[in-house]
Amino acid sequence: MTDQQVEHFHRNGFFFVPNAVGEDAMVEVDWRQRMVSAEWEKMQWPEGMNRGAGQFFMVGEPLFLAVERPEIVDMAKQVLGVDEVHIGACGLGDASKIVSADGRLLQQVHWHADGGPDVKQVSLRTALDRHDPSNAPLRVLPGTHLRPRDEVMEELRQVEIATGRHNEMPEHFFAKHPHEIEVVLDPRWTLVWTPSCWHATGVKTAAGPRRAMAWNYFPPGGRKRDLAALKHVVEGWEDWSEERKRLWGLLDD
Ligand SMILES: [Fe+2]
Repeated sequence: MTDQQVEHFHRNGFFFVPNAVGEDAMVEVDWRQRMVSAEWEKMQWPEGMNRGAGQFFMVGEPLFLAVERPEIVDMAKQVLGVDEVHIGACGLGDASKIVSADGRLLQQVHWHADGGPDVKQVSLRTALDRHDPSNAPLRVLPGTHLRPRDEVMEELRQVEIATGRHNEMPEHFFAKHPHEIEVVLDPRWTLVWTPSCWHATGVKTAAGPRRAMAWNYFPPGGRKRDLAALKHVVEGWEDWSEERKRLWGLLDD
């Protein structure tokens, strides 16, 4: 990783590195995802638990080892400018399916930010299936992680109204912003970005899978969203090493 890449992250909210999971782990994660997905679909998840994280933890060890690789953890520390990070959120599967399970007409995630200028985080996203323009690619609005949420939301609202598609004030915004980047994520690349940057997806018109894995590193004191899912799924986490528990946010700061 170069200083220029880190600068690009801070200014625009993202950069790319070659696939950070590794060839062997990709094959194993792909295979295990197919093995667990039927069971995952049927599972009853406790209220409020993140199902996407549940699937991530069900895939288990090959994915954990990729997330824990020292060079990847060091990259996260360097980007965030801290000596310690923990994994505070993760997910596997088709996020567009999960978010758009509210009966909306098109399978598409609306503009939103998972965090704001005050939330420091770095997320790694790797596709198991290429996210072509027909496969609901992630769309990122560069630099919006630096701007007040209300300001960006208003801008996206105005862009949405300008489409002329609405009779009433729209609640969710999908319209193309002139400065957005459509990320056609190929498994050969990993997106390193901050979900504090506003993002949406394109419409999924293609049949077939749209699987991706993502996990977020946070500085000390940062979010620990998926601890409940970890403890729910991973047997024997109590016996993990101190170092591993710390990295997964299982120890108090
Ligand atoms: Fe999001």
